[in-house]
Amino acid sequence: GKVALWGGRFASGPAEAMAALSASTHFDWRLAPYDIAGSRAHARVLRTAGLLTDAELDAMLKALDVLADDVASGAFTPTVADEDVHTALERGLLERAGTELGGKLRAGRSRNDQVATLFRMWLRDAARRVVAGTLDVVDALLAQSRRHPEAVLPGRTHLQHAQPVLLAHHLQAHAQSLLRDVGRLRDWDARTDESPYGSGALAGSSLGLDPEAVAAELGFSASVDNSIDGTASRDFAAEFAFAVAMLAVNLSRIAEEVIIWNTAEFGYVTLDDAWATGSSIMPQKKNPDVAELTRGKAGRLIGNLTGLLATLKAQPLAYNRDLQEDKEPVFDSVEQLELLFPAIAGMIATLTFHTGRLAELAPAGFTLATDIAEWLVRQGVPFRVAHEAAGECVRVAESRGTTLDALTDEELTAINPALTPEVRSVLTVAGSVACRDARGGTAPARVTEQRERLERRVSDA
Ligand code: ARG
Repeated sequence: GKVALWGGRFASGPAEAMAALSASTHFDWRLAPYDIAGSRAHARVLRTAGLLTDAELDAMLKALDVLADDVASGAFTPTVADEDVHTALERGLLERAGTELGGKLRAGRSRNDQVATLFRMWLRDAARRVVAGTLDVVDALLAQSRRHPEAVLPGRTHLQHAQPVLLAHHLQAHAQSLLRDVGRLRDWDARTDESPYGSGALAGSSLGLDPEAVAAELGFSASVDNSIDGTASRDFAAEFAFAVAMLAVNLSRIAEEVIIWNTAEFGYVTLDDAWATGSSIMPQKKNPDVAELTRGKAGRLIGNLTGLLATLKAQPLAYNRDLQEDKEPVFDSVEQLELLFPAIAGMIATLTFHTGRLAELAPAGFTLATDIAEWLVRQGVPFRVAHEAAGECVRVAESRGTTLDALTDEELTAINPALTPEVRSVLTVAGSVACRDARGGTAPARVTEQRERLERRVSDA
């Protein structure tokens, strides 16, 4: 017969469609190891409260060990009759400990405080895996930085050539945002470090059970301060969904650049064969699918976040069954990221940058015009006048179909008498990059220092 956890007041079992709608083992089974860890901790506080004897505790823990082994080996799995992971594991325990002893474990706990606790535990472990995967991507970016300490490219704003920058500076900008994502997950973890176990269905437990002892055994620093909040709140899940969606968006911005850089028109990079795909009809194609899937999955993670927020927005306190919808979105977000991390890290680590072409393009589009203006300012010319003069240099060079450094001495002084031949010192990409030497700037020495700080943050993380 059916082993529901709530049969007593019901004359009949649930309709088939009711059971099908209700079932969650197809996704919450991954909480099983955490559920068993919670049961061990709960058994110990039942003993402390005098509700189990030493011998009963011993037998209970042994049965839970056997159950844990059987779950791990796949010998014990949920059936279609099991409503959720908690129901299935209760059945598994009764089969192993006997109904007399096994039936004592449910005292003083509810699936509501259980699931709120186990979900936090699963997410905290997932956050550690997501951090590790993110650091692998940062590693790949920093390896490319080390490989190209001097390479330059045209830095862009509005996707237009703006000012020359070091390639390493650009790659490290992406590393900075990914390390902030890591920081966000760490901050989130500190806020999620409270165990709802002991909150019961919503009102707490009357049986003298110690929530702090359970919390400590399950790796939490404290138990929740409020049992209603403990069972009803899911902001920890929404915040996690945001942190990983933001991470996916940051990965997507890298991916978008790789896609553009890989076009024939840009020609900045060549993808390694291992991280590209071909076309079933066009034999010449080598497509940046890793980057495109990254961009695509970022949309999916945004959807998981907004879907979860919509699930939460109209729920009164405390627990409602709507909350069963809280898990799949974040499980999915983590699953997608775990597919992405090794592929993105592999794609970035094996990119070939065409530094000759990048160097050629770096000064194109008059990217050194700002350098003329700033050089004039250093000669005492007001910036308004300097900006005007540099703009005129661009106009003259453009009308002659040439570059700024090809303007003659006569042309320069005709534009502004202060434009002596010494201005040529900043009319090279190397000169332009070298003079942006304040903290955070693109001068090679600053970029190398920045990379060393990033490397330390990765190794300390
Ligand atoms: N499976 C449920 C969930 O994931 C937990 C069970 C609570 N069910 C209940 N009827 N109180 O939220």
